[in-house]
Amino acid sequence: MNDMTQGAALAPGLAADAPRLEPFWMPFTANRQFKAAPRLLARAEGMHYYTPEGRRVLDAQAGLWCVNAGHCRKPIADAIAQAAGSLDFAPTFQMGHPLAFELAQRLVALAGEPFDHVFFCNSGSEAVDSALKIALAWHRVRGEGQRTRFIGRERGYHGVGFGGISVGGIVGNRKMFGAMLPGVDHLQQTWNLEQQAFSRGQPQWGAHLADELERIIALHDASTIAAVIVEPVAGSAGVLVPPVGYLERLREITAKHGILLIFDEVITGFGRIGRPFGWQRFGVVPDLFTTAKGINSGTVPMGAVFARQGIYEAFMQGPQGAIEFAHGYTYSAHPLACAAALATLDVYRDEGLLTRAAQLERHFEDALHSLKGVRNVIDIRNIGLMGAVELAPRPDAPGARAYEAHLKAFFEEDLLIRYTGDIIALSPPLIVEPGQIDRIVQGLRSVLARMD
Ligand SMILES: Cc1ncc(COP(=O)(O)O)c(C=O)c1O
Repeated sequence: MNDMTQGAALAPGLAADAPRLEPFWMPFTANRQFKAAPRLLARAEGMHYYTPEGRRVLDAQAGLWCVNAGHCRKPIADAIAQAAGSLDFAPTFQMGHPLAFELAQRLVALAGEPFDHVFFCNSGSEAVDSALKIALAWHRVRGEGQRTRFIGRERGYHGVGFGGISVGGIVGNRKMFGAMLPGVDHLQQTWNLEQQAFSRGQPQWGAHLADELERIIALHDASTIAAVIVEPVAGSAGVLVPPVGYLERLREITAKHGILLIFDEVITGFGRIGRPFGWQRFGVVPDLFTTAKGINSGTVPMGAVFARQGIYEAFMQGPQGAIEFAHGYTYSAHPLACAAALATLDVYRDEGLLTRAAQLERHFEDALHSLKGVRNVIDIRNIGLMGAVELAPRPDAPGARAYEAHLKAFFEEDLLIRYTGDIIALSPPLIVEPGQIDRIVQGLRSVLARMD
């Protein structure tokens, strides 16, 4: 066997007949770098992962911003197993199954007014593309089909569908993929090191950045614009917390011009910032909002778009037998995902997890900001149980410093922290204990102390 077919070395701690690493084309991963220094997770429980060799690693990123209830929770695992053994699959095209309706009812009750309908899909990316399509189609069924433009924002992450990357603003995720959706424009991003460094919670500076929306609307004319989409807190680009007053301003301007406002709550949904949904915390009500990840604590792929009163109703016209919205996925409201979500919502309710981030926020904030002054730390940001520590990039090697911190944390501190560029992002499961927050920050502190 030559090197190409042999692939990279087997992972340490795995048996000699363990699978080769090479055939898996890993998503959003530096494949060669990973396969040269693999980092494997073999099982999980509560706040921890376990590596194949049995090392226990504290999960400071809730898997991938998703395992909000903590890992391998028994009621959720039991519900999934039960569903798998009793209704493995049922179509939701032209048919239905009770769990889907029960879940939709639970979700709209959780969101409360004015949200009264939920559209199911299987991921955050699908939730975003579904929301964009709902926006376009909604204008069309109301006789404003010329509203086809979307406005996103620099550094926005809305998944990887063509819609999501078009409105998204992360250059690396866009540049390889051609022209994408036409007619999309972008607001500038809201982070400013000089004005906002080491803000605790929402920065005071920056509400005026929302006024740029008026310029963009004037440029294209409001009558051509379907929707504005933003994450209430930009997550993947490094926890960019909205300035005080910024989201309110976006709401005012979009409402004034008949433009839908979509919040992408794939990360902020389900308790991450102290309320069930981010819009509730900010007191700014969008027209549509997308969720995924925490909906069933990351256990089974699922996403959901919530629609404000009146949106669904606008589609309910024409012949009774006509499909009102020609969109959906084979696995929309998959029984296993629904069962998992229902059990997860019970855990969230019984343990008060959807508001726990608010209780822990001050402790998390103080702990995180105690890293101010540590070598190479240029900014610290936080809201709820989302936080970021931004490092100065190494000259000529952007991203290398945070990657090294991630490696050292994993191998030397038994700590899983996420990195993006030179930003370390933290989002522990919502069951995290104050002492574990301290341990995360202490681990990060000692890693940074050992690095140039
Ligand atoms: C705000 C936001 N939207 C969409 C997505 C895409 O979700 P998925 O990876 O499930 O497609 C993510 C993923 O991190 C996200 O953070």
